[in-house]
Amino acid sequence: MTIQDIHNRFIEELQNLYDSTEIQAIFRYYIEIRLNIIDSYLFNDDKLDFEIKGFDSDLNQLKEGKPIQQIVGRAFFYDYFFRVNEYTLIPRPETEELIYLISEQYNKELELNVIDLGTGSGCIPITIKKIFPRANVSAIDISNEALAVAKQNSEELNAPVNFIQQDLLLEFDLNQKFDIIVSNPPYIRELEKADMHKNVLNYEPHLALFVTNEDPLLFYRRVAEFGLSHLNTGGKIFCEINQYLGKETKEMFQQFYKNVILHQDISGNDRIIEVYN
Ligand SMILES: C[S@@+](CC[C@H](N)C(=O)[O-])C[C@H]1O[C@@H](n2cnc3c(N)ncnc32)[C@H](O)[C@@H]1O
Repeated sequence: MTIQDIHNRFIEELQNLYDSTEIQAIFRYYIEIRLNIIDSYLFNDDKLDFEIKGFDSDLNQLKEGKPIQQIVGRAFFYDYFFRVNEYTLIPRPETEELIYLISEQYNKELELNVIDLGTGSGCIPITIKKIFPRANVSAIDISNEALAVAKQNSEELNAPVNFIQQDLLLEFDLNQKFDIIVSNPPYIRELEKADMHKNVLNYEPHLALFVTNEDPLLFYRRVAEFGLSHLNTGGKIFCEINQYLGKETKEMFQQFYKNVILHQDISGNDRIIEVYN
């Protein structure tokens, strides 16, 4: 099968499900991961003949709406490919913006103490360790399955992180203080489900996504409280937030901290909150 054949099959089979831009993006992702090819000049080379094990099964899963990242088992985030599976959220571009904000504010040589609350694939702490090689980085998640993936990513990307299995909503002992507390916790309200794509709803872990309509800021309150006892002097909290709850999230943090700054993402939505005393 040539790359052109693969391309034609993607268009034939997926055109009723995705628009042409999405099909191109999925196709490129597929070729990059499965065949390790990123040079588009090779796409028309009809002498390159491949046999991709499981090609039909991959295509069927795409037709059922499974995200390409879960089919190939990898998601691109910041500068790296991270392993993902059904227990880990697929890292999102908005979360890269959280990393950019942090990386702009600190000298790369600093020995920062950093903790990520709700780590999933480990994309946040691992990327931070890559940017700040001298940092001591820890990360918490409730899910053992997610932590297994995060640990594998940490090893494969050669970025040591101290992973801790812990329910953030319970009281716990952590005898350490941090310069940066970062978190992208679950923040989608049940009422927002109606507007979500079925490939997110059907395939991504609900534990990573949802909070109740009644208490959508639950995790942020916990992060705020954790910061009161675990931030070093001059330390900061950075969180990704629900774009529809910017004002409410800001007011909640203002009950505990003097400085609360809302940042907008590339699409102009309230997306990141920066908090310090
Ligand atoms: C929105 S995902 C973020 C994952 C990753 N940090 C990212 O940005 O892609 C939230 C994470 O919080 C974890 N989580 C949910 N409830 C938790 C709890 N009570 N305690 C600790 N972690 C929790 C989920 O397992 C999930 O990995």
